[in-house]
Amino acid sequence: MNCTWLKSAVFYEIYPNSFMDSNGDGYGDFKGITGKLDYIKSLGCNAIWLNPHYDSPFMDGGYDVRDYFKVSERFGTEEDFDEFIKTAHAKGMKVILDLVPGHTSEQNADFLKSAEPTENELSDRFIWTRGEWDFPQGFKAISGRHNRKGNYIVNFYSTQPSLNYGFNRVDDPSWQMSYKSDAAKKTREWLKGVMRFWLDRGCDGFRVDMADSLVKNDGEQGEKPATSEVWKDIRAMLDKEYPDTVLVSEWSNAQSIRAGFHADFMLDHHGNPYNLLVRGEEEPDVYSYFDINGRGDAGKFAQGFCEWYDKIKDDGYFALISCNHDTPRLAPNYTHEQLKLIYSTLFTLPGVPFIYYGDEIGMKYIKDLPSVECGFARTGSRTPMQWDMTKNAGFSNAERTFLPTEIDKAVNVVAQLKDKKSLLNFIKELLAFRKSRAEFTSRDFEVAHAKGGEPLVYRRGGLICVVNPLKVKQSVPVVVNPKAPVLFNIGKAAKPKKTGLDVAPLSFTVFESK
Ligand code: NOJ
Repeated sequence: MNCTWLKSAVFYEIYPNSFMDSNGDGYGDFKGITGKLDYIKSLGCNAIWLNPHYDSPFMDGGYDVRDYFKVSERFGTEEDFDEFIKTAHAKGMKVILDLVPGHTSEQNADFLKSAEPTENELSDRFIWTRGEWDFPQGFKAISGRHNRKGNYIVNFYSTQPSLNYGFNRVDDPSWQMSYKSDAAKKTREWLKGVMRFWLDRGCDGFRVDMADSLVKNDGEQGEKPATSEVWKDIRAMLDKEYPDTVLVSEWSNAQSIRAGFHADFMLDHHGNPYNLLVRGEEEPDVYSYFDINGRGDAGKFAQGFCEWYDKIKDDGYFALISCNHDTPRLAPNYTHEQLKLIYSTLFTLPGVPFIYYGDEIGMKYIKDLPSVECGFARTGSRTPMQWDMTKNAGFSNAERTFLPTEIDKAVNVVAQLKDKKSLLNFIKELLAFRKSRAEFTSRDFEVAHAKGGEPLVYRRGGLICVVNPLKVKQSVPVVVNPKAPVLFNIGKAAKPKKTGLDVAPLSFTVFESK
């Protein structure tokens, strides 16, 4: 596999609107990010995932791209963008951009051309039904917005028309084209052009939005053969022309690695191992393993995780997130002490860590914020970064910011840098420890004990990791040499006994077993 850098990458996800405003207009920008690269690096992160930075009307937080070859003026100039990439590289950091391949903004020039009533070279770049009264089942079709005959299919919101990568199963040839048609292939070539443009500008790869959404009527959930064929073709282009760049998919299925992605997000989907590990509580009557009352089940998590891991481990990685711009932050549902256990577990499991900005200080999900730019419930995870106790928490000196800022004397960077026991300083220790042991970036992984709310025990090569998410002491029948050195711990280190381990409440321990 190319891209050996991915193996030891630790990503920091930046939602550009909310990270750092350098010019006082209330929105974060490239210059603001560039100025904070040393901070990001000091955490132990060596890569960045930047959410959409393109010219956009922001009807979906920038996932509605108006111009794929231009940065949003909101974030600065083209030169500011180039400077950001250049500076990150000079500091030894990689940058991946968000790629939105499945849909554009309704204001995209190619879409407007496609929507013209007379046939032209872009008529088939998007998916249109035959007549203006056609509302095919299983698709979202928008009518009455353009003079072209027919309705356009959208991928997400009504403002995001689907690009035409064709159909695998063609049910109605009067408007559906095969994914092998010339029109579909032209869309694919256009996408390669977009990728080349940003790779030539220096980015190191892409996080691919809704990667599984390209070809329509494409097989069962997850298993998408034609979409996979498209990505394999794109991966072949990358391997040939840009061999050191990575593709990380938003797909959340083992299929994505077979389709050519280097890594895939294990997302917060119902029943996903990630959901069972830390996010069950977001649904009624579902509990995660880290539920403080022990109602979760390590066994269920481990079974799903191992099955999935076995399918991908030889060819790719899990991308494991602290949170992202679509997901409620873990705080305040968990205390900082619990977050330390959660981050330790997440980032010692096999996978590439992704830390969402602000999670290193335990920024809270803000409930009931009025939706901005169609964030809806996601808005509460997108509030500005909390740097210090000054105006707008040091994010901006504007009178009004993109979203309201939380001023919190404990949850800000300056306060936590001063506090030895803070979450921020802990993240630094954890990432430094992770970096110091090759076992964590190896493929070696084996579960030694996983049952209900009992401590979860797993091996990474010669290392044994033990976590107890509960407030009570527990024992597990995993025998560890009493002389095995403790390399890392939170709370009291677990104690090897003849018949197993005594595991202290709310603790995490890593032993080295010879
Ligand atoms: C997934 C992105 O993460 C989300 O923010 C966006 O709204 C949809 N895809 C549509 O692009």
